[in-house]
Amino acid sequence: MVHREGILVSTDGWVNTAAMGADIDEDLIRFRIFRPSDTAWNLKKNKEFTFSLTDDPMLFYKAALTGHDTQQPELLEDELVEEDGFYYPKKATRVFFCRVISTKDISIKDAFGSADLLTVEASIVRDTGEADFIGRENHLVDIMVHLTRYIISNEDKKEAIKMYVESILEDDDSPTAKKLIQWMEEQG
Ligand SMILES: Cc1cc2nc3c(=O)[nH]c(=O)nc-3n(C[C@H](O)[C@H](O)[C@H](O)COP(=O)(O)O)c2cc1C
Repeated sequence: MVHREGILVSTDGWVNTAAMGADIDEDLIRFRIFRPSDTAWNLKKNKEFTFSLTDDPMLFYKAALTGHDTQQPELLEDELVEEDGFYYPKKATRVFFCRVISTKDISIKDAFGSADLLTVEASIVRDTGEADFIGRENHLVDIMVHLTRYIISNEDKKEAIKMYVESILEDDDSPTAKKLIQWMEEQG
């Protein structure tokens, strides 16, 4: 089994993208998705989705940190490819075409309190591509995981995340690093 971070594209009348961690075991793929979320909603309604790996941190940014909670549009249709009703990002380096086998609503207790999750098991119908990809070992992708929690955190927790993010990005002048700092400032 391998763990991968990637972009899950689900549909239910509209197309939704989200950064997600997945456990991949031959032709099975599993996720734990926090509820409520558009992705959890879509996967209960429409069983077909894609999960893509990428080497582009900006793709993670667009999938994870834009959309309804922010003022910025999510991935636009012209940044996605449509193939037999499946959608995936143009910048994907590997695409898994998947079909949900089962979903389960669960609740867990963690450091942040209790949380509602949807566990999803799906079969990988086919996959394409073999190119390079990045995951949480990339500091920008790791920072984005912290930032997805920023919106739902209280003021104390927000301050702690802010200090952590600024310390990690201190010497990073890349456009994505600048975008992440700007995003944090816009959220207040
Ligand atoms: C690298 C990375 C991995 C993530 N993994 C998960 C995950 O496994 N489960 C989850 O619920 N959210 C995960 N997130 C957070 C979601 O991407 C984020 O909450 C997203 O906005 C959900 O979108 P939705 O409401 O459109 O479904 C991850 C974020 C990043 C940046």
